[in-house]
Amino acid sequence: MKRNLIIASACCIFSFTAIAQKKTIDQKVDSVLKLMTLDEKIGQMNQYNGPWAATGPLTNDDKLLDQIKEGKVGSMLNVTGAKRTRELQDLAMQTRLKIPLLFGQDVIHGYRTIFPIPLAEAASWDMKLIEQSARVAATEAAASGIHWTFAPMVDIARDPRWGRVMEGAGEDTYLGSLIAVARVKGFQGKGLGNTNAVMACAKHFAAYGAAVGGRDYNSVDMSLRQLHEVYLPPFKAAADAGVATFMNSFNDLNGIPATGNKYLQRDILKGQWKFKGFVVSDWGSVGEMIPHGYAKNNYEAAMLAANAGSDMDMESRSYIQNLSKLVKDGKVNISVIDDAVKRILRIKFVMGLFDDPYKFSNEEREKAQWNNTEHRKIEKEMAKKSIVLLKNDKQTLPLSKQTKTIALIGPFIKAISDNLGFWSYDWPDDSSRITSTYDGIKSKVSADSKLLYAKGCNINDSITTGFAEAVETAKQADVVVIQVGEARDMTGEAKSRSNIHLPGVQEDLIKAVMATGKPVVVMINAGRPLIFNWTADNAPAILYTWWLGTDAGNAIADVLFGDYNPSGKLPMSFPLTEGQIPIYYNHYNTGRPAQNDSDRFYRSAYIDLSLYPKFAFGYGLSYTSFEYSDIKLSKSSFKPTEKLTATVTVKNTGNYDGEETVQLYIQDLFGSVVRPVKELKGFQKVFLKKGEAKEISFAITTEDLKFFNDKLEKIYEPGDFKLFIGGASNNVKQTSFTLTK
Ligand code: GLC
Repeated sequence: MKRNLIIASACCIFSFTAIAQKKTIDQKVDSVLKLMTLDEKIGQMNQYNGPWAATGPLTNDDKLLDQIKEGKVGSMLNVTGAKRTRELQDLAMQTRLKIPLLFGQDVIHGYRTIFPIPLAEAASWDMKLIEQSARVAATEAAASGIHWTFAPMVDIARDPRWGRVMEGAGEDTYLGSLIAVARVKGFQGKGLGNTNAVMACAKHFAAYGAAVGGRDYNSVDMSLRQLHEVYLPPFKAAADAGVATFMNSFNDLNGIPATGNKYLQRDILKGQWKFKGFVVSDWGSVGEMIPHGYAKNNYEAAMLAANAGSDMDMESRSYIQNLSKLVKDGKVNISVIDDAVKRILRIKFVMGLFDDPYKFSNEEREKAQWNNTEHRKIEKEMAKKSIVLLKNDKQTLPLSKQTKTIALIGPFIKAISDNLGFWSYDWPDDSSRITSTYDGIKSKVSADSKLLYAKGCNINDSITTGFAEAVETAKQADVVVIQVGEARDMTGEAKSRSNIHLPGVQEDLIKAVMATGKPVVVMINAGRPLIFNWTADNAPAILYTWWLGTDAGNAIADVLFGDYNPSGKLPMSFPLTEGQIPIYYNHYNTGRPAQNDSDRFYRSAYIDLSLYPKFAFGYGLSYTSFEYSDIKLSKSSFKPTEKLTATVTVKNTGNYDGEETVQLYIQDLFGSVVRPVKELKGFQKVFLKKGEAKEISFAITTEDLKFFNDKLEKIYEPGDFKLFIGGASNNVKQTSFTLTK
């Protein structure tokens, strides 16, 4: 009895302390809020870009740094480095209440060590590694005074003309949601306040990836059902994973700009999802509601954005210039201001910045993290697993390290910064730190191998004078490796392209070299799906090498020469032409579903084009081959309270050990709304030695069968389903089952 009493009282003390501890942060927030003037509160809702670098249209403001001292700034972006952040924090410490600044930065795929672009990482389908990638980025950024990264970008995108596909996880909601969680966990690590963790930011809220025509900043119009079914789940997953902040988006959604969209920010995010963090606008998007035609002036824009739930104004100056008058005019209630400021202050407490405003600005830690060999090792691993083998006829790959003469041709072979992609950083030592393809191959092949090199052409012009040298070089070789693609600034923000073919004369270069009859391996650097049909049909071997980051050359060499068997799977469908866009695997069946390309009167087929993409979602080859058994189901029907198990045996039937991503898709055959022909509902990565076989099982419950009906209820409906398992969305075994009432 006595013992129980002691335990019980200990628990009470503990829980009281815990409650007291929890209340401490809230109390501290309230205690600071009580001291603040209206202007000081509004200052916290104001974010400026530093005067040293910009990621949007800059406003000249020579009083910018003075305003920090005047308490008019709550956060800065694009201010990096232990030294510089310390300097600006010094200015904030001169304010009356000494409220520390938050420093935000676009650490999208690495900071000092640059990782593959997010779309490439998505091709790895490796959640653990994607989390590690974000972990390294956070560690390096936090060591450089950065508190907050404007990532992960979790916009689902089905249109490769949109340049920002490179920042996300592709076309699939299920895969995109898992990756959103992996990135949030990676960035925020063991918890905010640790000096190797940064606040993450789910962006761009919402549906920015559905811009009409793939044109950046363009309008978005869709049913709320599609919004909830396809575009919101990765944001919900990020929120459930504890993401510290959200960023809204430039686009209007169903006629209302996201920045002024109450439905998104208050009803869904802060209401239904009970989000406790804060929302930052995207660069200038508060003021951009004027050209949107939604606000007459910055006074109105500030009112609409604040009342709709945008807590912090990035760079538009609408808040700092108008909120005080809006409160006095009764247009914005002080409770709106207080709620926004409490959200911002709360995070500053959680980050420990009130206790030590300089805790992240530590030059010793910065130096230690920067040339960190462990980070580079993880980067190379991520890069290898991001590479997708699109074709390998006649086992052209892997190449032998003893190959006598190899011709290396193309404008990317010796590229350095073009391995980094958009949203990356240039450092003085890049030429020594970034491994080119040439250097990667040079360090891989035997001492007797001879490497020949010819650039052949530029990335994006019509000059063909280099072809002759390239052809001559190819003729002297036993095998040719050509590396073509997009320059790092050809995909990214404000980089929508109407023509996504291989740029310039690069495909002509491939044709000229192929004409020599030599075996040719083509590698394509890109930030998006490109169109290269001639190459795809004629080159014997193709690797999609994206933009792989700092150790690109070594990762590529590992794959080229078989030290790593490529395992990547495409996170986006590759269209045959721009005219085929949007094309994505999880489309509806329609009333006239075509079974093949000759069904002209079916599924709105084109009379001049195939129905199918060049490469499908989930597609990716290996140097080995994998055989799938028929699917075994634990039962042919199951009740909502039960689960169903689907099992296949996957066998490595080739000559190399390798990793396969076994994908599970489900089709709901009939519903109260039409349902996609298949939807990714699970996947498992399995490593198989040559000749080895393993059973892979998936447990299916009603959770996997839910969808949003026309009342926006997330439900499942009993009925008949098809179940698919395979190595690509268009290469599956199938079976069927019934969910009973
Ligand atoms: C940019 C981007 C956004 C980025 C922000 C700050 O315009 O849209 O993704 O985080 O501005 O650089």
